[in-house]
Amino acid sequence: MTTSSAPGKVYLFGEHAVVYGEPAVPCAIERRAWVTADPRADDRVRVEAEDLTLNGFTVEWGTETDDHPDVDVPSNLVEAATGYLDEAVAQARDAIGDPDAGFEITVDSDIPLGGGLGSSAAVVVAAIDAAVRSRGEQIDPEELADRAYQAESAVQGGEASRADTYCSAMGGAVRVEGDNTRPIEAPELPLVIGYDGGAGDTGKLVAGVRALKEEYEFAADTVETIGDLTRRGEELLAAADPDEDPSPVLLDELGDLMDFNHGLLSALGVSSRSLDRMVWSAREADALGAKLTGAGGGGCIVALDEGQATRRALEYSPGCEQSFRAELATEGVRAER
Ligand code: MEV
Repeated sequence: MTTSSAPGKVYLFGEHAVVYGEPAVPCAIERRAWVTADPRADDRVRVEAEDLTLNGFTVEWGTETDDHPDVDVPSNLVEAATGYLDEAVAQARDAIGDPDAGFEITVDSDIPLGGGLGSSAAVVVAAIDAAVRSRGEQIDPEELADRAYQAESAVQGGEASRADTYCSAMGGAVRVEGDNTRPIEAPELPLVIGYDGGAGDTGKLVAGVRALKEEYEFAADTVETIGDLTRRGEELLAAADPDEDPSPVLLDELGDLMDFNHGLLSALGVSSRSLDRMVWSAREADALGAKLTGAGGGGCIVALDEGQATRRALEYSPGCEQSFRAELATEGVRAER
């Protein structure tokens, strides 16, 4: 039995714009996906997912395309999850040089699926790592990040950035601009998450931004402006001492930038009523800034707040199902056993 885990993430700045080569700064949070892989004697893949839907599900498929997948719980979440796992298995097979390698895979995750916290990236990263290790091979985090990116990109029709998968593989805060990826230093930030219980369709949301950008100059300008404010956010993080609590002045400006980023994402059409409501509940409870995180359309917001007020306000906010504090996850992918 081989188990790997990988963290989810929030975007401090830059989602969507990162798809067009602008920089983004995601940071990993202590919510993880655990994937266990065991080799099978045949070439089939059987997946059991404990917590990805309320009921969980089991699916099994073979290497022939017409033999895939045999789903016993019909759900769009099952379809999404099996799509990502199919691509993860393809990457693991390629890494170990055995196109017919079969696996028993179990997925357990405390990251809301499709909610903007990088659930699919965490599952893909952990799945490739566990599947490769279950066959006695090793894969370093940079190669793992690249393979996870290839897998995610295939599911999203070629429209994915390296941000989610790189952040999940490496942990901590990272900077992604096109193919350039690197970890960056960041202080522990007082982040609070609000989750509306829903999920956005990343592929559709990304396609919607592309269409808007092609039709309207303001959308292309908005993408560039998100890039500018991300660069400003990076400068602020770089000026902070990663071992000290961030200063109030730094937090104030980071919060302002998060507010601006949310406004710009709304202009690109990727916010939703429940995301906006949670953002405003957080701001009215004295959060220093709040924005949606990830693809949008539903799911999570991230707020910057030092006290307890924002988390409590979110609990009572219409449309918010769950709120929690998010600790920075310094560790990316981890071999659990
Ligand atoms: C999705 O978590 C983030 C997006 O920027 C898409 C991507 O970067 O692949 C919307």
